[in-house]
Amino acid sequence: MSIPVLVARAVFPQTLERLRASFDVRHNADDTVLSQDQLIEALQGRQGLLATGSEKVDERLLDACPKLRVVANMAVGYNNIDIAACTERGVLATNTPDVLTETTADFGFALLLATARRMAESEHFLRRGEWKKWSYDMFTGSDVHGATLGILGMGRIGQAIARRGALGFGMRVIYHNRSRLPEETELPLGARWVDKETLLRDADHLILVLPYSAESHHSIGEAELALMKPTATLVNVARGGIVDDAALARALREQRIAAAGLDVFEGEPRVHPDLLTVPNVVLTPHIASATVATRRAMAELAADNLIAGLTGGRPPSPINPEVLRRGR
Ligand code: GLV
Repeated sequence: MSIPVLVARAVFPQTLERLRASFDVRHNADDTVLSQDQLIEALQGRQGLLATGSEKVDERLLDACPKLRVVANMAVGYNNIDIAACTERGVLATNTPDVLTETTADFGFALLLATARRMAESEHFLRRGEWKKWSYDMFTGSDVHGATLGILGMGRIGQAIARRGALGFGMRVIYHNRSRLPEETELPLGARWVDKETLLRDADHLILVLPYSAESHHSIGEAELALMKPTATLVNVARGGIVDDAALARALREQRIAAAGLDVFEGEPRVHPDLLTVPNVVLTPHIASATVATRRAMAELAADNLIAGLTGGRPPSPINPEVLRRGR
């Protein structure tokens, strides 16, 4: 009898084939986002779950699905999973780090460029047929090259963005992170640790790349926005909820900061209605890791984790490896 697992959302056919070779797979082939009750129902008797950031693995689900042993998240972020509750119940959780670092950093930089150089706003203007003449100050933005890049959160993706800024665009890079990087990591990036207030005050472009948690909730709100330069841009490729979207929409409308680029939103796929009506914001639907190659690599890594986790192998990227050490 093969091990029963649930693949909670549509996934590449090749990944599904691999999983079918090892498991009895139930697959949400039509890709509907399951309600919590539907997810619990679909997981009954299943030992493994291949999830995305849209599926919430909380205490209620874990208690209702006592057979569950492995949750393989197809994302590097895992704020959709209650890790402490998993660990307590001996459930292994895994994520997909590394394979998406460079792709996500590319997108962060693209969003920064699009925001600073007003690409979405000017493109909408052109499409609306409003381009009648050239003028000297039409859609003037702010330079990216040579400017000060501020990075909040300096993990793998933050460092990959710093490299692009320092080496590709001659930027001065400052960052804030709970812990300062070792000097040998900082040096080649030309990155300097500063306190959060200095980061907010000095950055010409501020990019957010920190994980979401109760502590990072609304890390950027009214007070933080008030410290930023009126010419500054803000980019969020981390998680919704790190920015207070209502406060940001107000700051953008009142031009207390110049512009923002957002790939993630509080309560997505809903977007705060005020963000939809301000012109100086570039909005994308959580696609920073979305290249074909990277999404394939993420799906394969999630499958590797699920297979190893359920068949006694060594999962490549466990979040709570203590579950493995403890033996299950
Ligand atoms: C995407 O947001 C991820 O965490 O991989």
